[in-house]
Amino acid sequence: MSTPTSLATERPRLVHTAEELRAGVQAARVAGRRIGLVPTMGALHEGHLSLVRAAQAACGLTVVTVFVNPTQFGPQEDFDKYPRTLASDVDALAACRADLVFAPSREEMYPAGCSTCVEPPAVARRWEGECRPGHFRGVATVVLKLFNLAQADVAFFGQKDYQQAAVIRQMAQDLNVPVEIRVCPTVREPDGLAMSSRNRYLSADERRQALAISRSLRWADQLAAGGERRAAKLAEAMQGVLAEAQIRQIDYVAVVDPDTLEPVSELAGPAIALIAAKVGTTRLIDNWRIERT
Ligand code: PAJ
Repeated sequence: MSTPTSLATERPRLVHTAEELRAGVQAARVAGRRIGLVPTMGALHEGHLSLVRAAQAACGLTVVTVFVNPTQFGPQEDFDKYPRTLASDVDALAACRADLVFAPSREEMYPAGCSTCVEPPAVARRWEGECRPGHFRGVATVVLKLFNLAQADVAFFGQKDYQQAAVIRQMAQDLNVPVEIRVCPTVREPDGLAMSSRNRYLSADERRQALAISRSLRWADQLAAGGERRAAKLAEAMQGVLAEAQIRQIDYVAVVDPDTLEPVSELAGPAIALIAAKVGTTRLIDNWRIERT
């Protein structure tokens, strides 16, 4: 049984400044430990924690960052109401044995006068890039800053944000950042809903409605497994499932190439089905890898 003392020593170190983060990472590096980085915006759920466990398994020091990054939110988006739950996040991180938590202030990440940003790669152009202008610029910029601060060997991202992972992988490659990008599977609720910090905005009715998103992705997968190769037919079938559930504010439903994220017309190999839609006032995204059988 754990004693209170051993529990206390298992808690991750919580730091708020770049200097403390650098010092913590440097000590581990000198000791020859591999450094794993898990960037998050907090309000942690099992999806995030699966990345932390993957980092723990692969690295000697796991750094988790918790920062609601203002530059990736549009002016009409939910930056102000985005959940901020640092105390319970640190508890959850203690339970999965993260070593270091970096929770900077806005000023720490973007001091007065900070004006440089990353122009995201071409893979950022469509889908989220079109619906959320400036979003990937904010993501690429903050993630590059976190890469520079944490000097990680490996960084962990979720397939849940498929395009984001593609943008970050390309950005790291294009800018010669010596970090390996690992993408971990989407963690879902037992009924199929992809876990998201934004799910807590959903009412009980909307929560039920939102299930149509993963249902429509699975339906496209089943149709493809049954031999349907035409992407337009798969997209139509997905739209149909969303319409049945009265989901009408659809940003996109697409079947795309896994690397370029350009739409495909026929399934000639694996593809990714992508959906972004609003349920009530909550915008949700999800995706599914479709294997050609
Ligand atoms: P956030 O939405 O907090 O997500 C942090 C990481 O958790 C991302 O890599 C995301 O893909 C992953 N994740 C979220 N839900 C998941 C799920 N259900 N299963 C598996 N992984 C999941 O994404 C961001 O923050 C930000 O854009 C960030 C990269 C931190 C930059 O600010």
